[in-house]
Amino acid sequence: MKKLLVYGVIALPLSIAAVFTGCSVDAEIPEELTKEDVKFYVPQGFPQPVYNFAANPVSIEGFELGRKLFYDPRLSRDNTISCGSCHMQSGAFSHIEHRVSHGIDGLTGTRNAPGLWNLAWHQTFMWDGGINHIESQPLGPIANPVEMDENIANVLVKLRNDANYPRMFEAAFGSDTITTQRMMWAMTQFQGLMISANSKYDQVQRGEAQFTQAEQSGLATFRSKCSSCHTEPLFTDDSFHNNGLPPEPTVMDAGRMRITNDPADSLKFKTPSLRNIAITGPYMHDGRFVTLAQCLNHYSGTMYPSSTLDPQLTSGIPLTAQEKSDLLAFLATLTDYTFIQDPKFKEQ
Ligand code: HEC
Ligand code: HEC
Repeated sequence: MKKLLVYGVIALPLSIAAVFTGCSVDAEIPEELTKEDVKFYVPQGFPQPVYNFAANPVSIEGFELGRKLFYDPRLSRDNTISCGSCHMQSGAFSHIEHRVSHGIDGLTGTRNAPGLWNLAWHQTFMWDGGINHIESQPLGPIANPVEMDENIANVLVKLRNDANYPRMFEAAFGSDTITTQRMMWAMTQFQGLMISANSKYDQVQRGEAQFTQAEQSGLATFRSKCSSCHTEPLFTDDSFHNNGLPPEPTVMDAGRMRITNDPADSLKFKTPSLRNIAITGPYMHDGRFVTLAQCLNHYSGTMYPSSTLDPQLTSGIPLTAQEKSDLLAFLATLTDYTFIQDPKFKEQ
């Protein structure tokens, strides 16, 4: 950062006054990324990722291009909504305080915007798994009429006419040709590097921290009652289940069946990762629960009867008041403050 400042002073002597009058100037200069910052890695204890970055090698320039695209409202029809509008870093890239997504023209969708992390380990994306590749995923929200409602061909025209994008594509991919594929590669470099593996839970696994008694008991309850679906260390089995929620009558979201047309998939949704869960509310595919306590009360209460209800949940999951409070203590250890404060993921 210092280097950038000095350089700025030399190049623009007239701005010296500005440099000396306040730190706001300093704050606006983006941190310089190092190769280390943009290195994809497999955290200790994680399985091998699904996505292979060998075919899309991450570079500083590719990552920065992906970040610019992620935060650029010009990916939407009226240039008002960016990916970052619904996926906010302070909420681990979920849409804070929004039950369902809120997109262009104030329109709302029917599903809750999930947080984004460890995406390179996903087989499928979206609550119903309707997208099966991280590289094509951004095309979904761009075209979605209640999200960004834009045609990718128009987006490419906007980018080609921009003062900065052509040289950023050149820096990332060797020529200033702007294509959908290159755009998706860059966005994958940015999104794919959103690795969350430094919560207190992770630190305990690495022997760097210790659980309290409540957190430790919460983990034991979690392992006996929850981890068959919310499997460590990703806290999801990346599969689809009906966890007994009554369908919302006005929406009748059939979940996975929308994609497969198989009645055996009715009301099944992708198991969400519970990492960062304390800060990604509201909860469930339609954001129906505001608090984690409500989620636990759902599991310990009556399940909506249907032929596809997960066999593990036919009688719900009995939980005592003590188990619930310990579970809440444990779930809070899954928040990764390093991830949500990491300056490299911030809008520049
Ligand atoms: C208007 C709000 C909104 C905007 C804008 C938006 N998203 Fe989303 N995002 C959502 C919602 C809602 C879902 C869940 C959709 C579903 O399950 O049908 C989602 C799902 C995702 C997922 C899947 C996560 C998972 O765990 O399966 C990814 C990745 C993602 N969005 C990235 C993006 C990117 C990249 C952009 C910009 C090109 C973007 N989103 C723009 C609301 C939004
Ligand atoms: C049979 C598999 C299964 C079991 C067992 C299970 N869950 Fe879930 N869980 C799911 C699925 C599937 C969803 C998403 C459902 C939806 O949105 O329609 C979910 C959603 C959640 C959510 C909301 C996550 C979010 O991002 O909105 C929380 C919190 C949660 N479960 C906690 C737990 C806890 C705690 C336990 C143990 C007491 C548990 N689950 C047991 C499958 C399971």
